[in-house]
Amino acid sequence: MAINKTGLNILEKSKNNLSIYIHIPFCNSKCEYCAFNSMVANSSDKKRYFNDLVAEIKLQSQIYSGYYSVASIYIGGGTPSSMDYYYIRDLLQILYKNFAVKNTVEITIEINPNTIDKNKIREYILAGVNRFSIGLQTTNPKLLKEMGRTHTVEDYEKAVNMIREFGIKNISTDIIIGYPKQKVSQVKDTINYLLKLGIPHISVYMLQVEQDTKLKVLVDNGSVGVPNDDTVIEMYNLVSNTLMTNGYNRYELSNFAKPSYESYHNKVYWKRKDYLGIGLSAHSYISGRRFANTDNIVEYAEKLEVKKQIPITSIKSLTEQEKKEEFVMLSLRTSEGMNLEEYKEEFEENFLSKKKNTVARLIKGGFIILTKDNKLICTTKGLLVLNQVVLELADDL
Ligand SMILES: C[S@@+](CC[C@H](N)C(=O)[O-])C[C@H]1O[C@@H](n2cnc3c(N)ncnc32)[C@H](O)[C@@H]1O
Ligand code: SF4
Repeated sequence: MAINKTGLNILEKSKNNLSIYIHIPFCNSKCEYCAFNSMVANSSDKKRYFNDLVAEIKLQSQIYSGYYSVASIYIGGGTPSSMDYYYIRDLLQILYKNFAVKNTVEITIEINPNTIDKNKIREYILAGVNRFSIGLQTTNPKLLKEMGRTHTVEDYEKAVNMIREFGIKNISTDIIIGYPKQKVSQVKDTINYLLKLGIPHISVYMLQVEQDTKLKVLVDNGSVGVPNDDTVIEMYNLVSNTLMTNGYNRYELSNFAKPSYESYHNKVYWKRKDYLGIGLSAHSYISGRRFANTDNIVEYAEKLEVKKQIPITSIKSLTEQEKKEEFVMLSLRTSEGMNLEEYKEEFEENFLSKKKNTVARLIKGGFIILTKDNKLICTTKGLLVLNQVVLELADDL
C-alpha cells in the first residue's frame, strides 16, 4: 500500500482522526426498493465522474489534510464494484497522496455479488482495501428477482469464497427484512445460511418504502403490500436472537458483529466523530457542522470542472439543542448506549436531573436500562420503538 509509514507516524501524533466516505453513484441495474443516489451509466460518464472525484479530493485535501489523519475510508454507493478496478485503485492512491492516511486504516468497499471477479478483488486488496461489504438481501431466489436483484445466491457465495482465498476475513453482508411477500421462514433461511458461511458482520435493514422507487408505485397502487408491523418485529427478533446466541454483538440497531469485526467507520457516524463525504450527494460532519454535496450530477460536474469549487449545497452549524438531540439519537442506537458522563462533559449539564421522570418511566416500561457505570442503554423492546424513545428523551433538553 502506498503509504509512507515513517512519515505518517510523526504526523499522526499531532492530528485528529478523520473518516472519509467516497460515493460511487453507479449500479448495473436499479433495484425496485432503492432510493440511493445511483444510476446506470456508460463508461465515459464513469470516467468523467472519476475525474471529478479526483478534483474534489484535491480541493478537500487543501482544507483538511493539515489537520487530520485518515483512520477509515468507506467506498460506497451505488455499487463501487461496477466501476473498472483501476478507478478504485487510483482513487485510493490519490487519497494516499493528498491525505495522511494511518497505517491502521480500515478501508471498506461495497460490492454486488455479480460485479466482482478475482482480478478486481486482488487489485482492491493491493490498493489497500481490507474490508468487503456485500449486498445479498435474501437467499430466496424468487424474492431476489422481485427486488430487482440481478445476482443469485451462488454468485454471492462465489464472491465470499474469492475474497477469502486472498486471506480476507473481514466480510460484511447486507440483508433486508420486511419486504413485500417475504416470510419469516425465508428470513430464518437467510440468517442460517450466513451463519453457516461464518460471515462475521451482518447488517440487517428493515425495508423503507422510499419515494421515487418502483416499489413505492407498486405499494401505492395496491399491487403489493408490506408485511404488518408485528411480522417485521418477529423477523427482527428472530435475526437478533439468532445472531446474539451465536456470538454476535448487536453493536447497533441494524449491525451485528463477531468480536473484533465491528466496523470502525460505522461507529464514527454514531459517535459523532469527524467524517468527510466526497462525491455526489455525500454528507460530512466536521467540527459540529453538517454539510452535503449536491445530489445533482450535472451540477456536481459543473462546480468541479468549470468553477473549480467543492460542490457543497448545504452547510448547517448545529445548535446546542440539535447537538444534544443527535447525541441522544445516535448513541441510543448502539449497544454502548448513551454515556451520561460524556454528555455532562460535552454539554456541561446533568442529563438525569433534567429528564428524571422520563428516564424513570422508560426504565419502568422496559424500554431502557441505566447501568452502574452511568449509561442509558436501549433494550430490544426500546430499539423497536426507538424513534419514540428518542423523542421523549431528547425533547426540550
Ligand atoms: C447503498 S446500498 C449499496 C450496496 C450494494 N449496491 C448492493 O446493493 O449490493 C447498501 C444497502 O442498503 C440497503 N437498502 C437500500 N435501500 C433500502 C431500503 N429502501 N430499505 C432498506 N434497506 C435498503 C440494502 O441492504 C443495501 O445493500
Ligand atoms: S441496492 Fe445497491 S445495487 Fe441496488 S440500486 Fe441500490 S445501490 Fe444499486
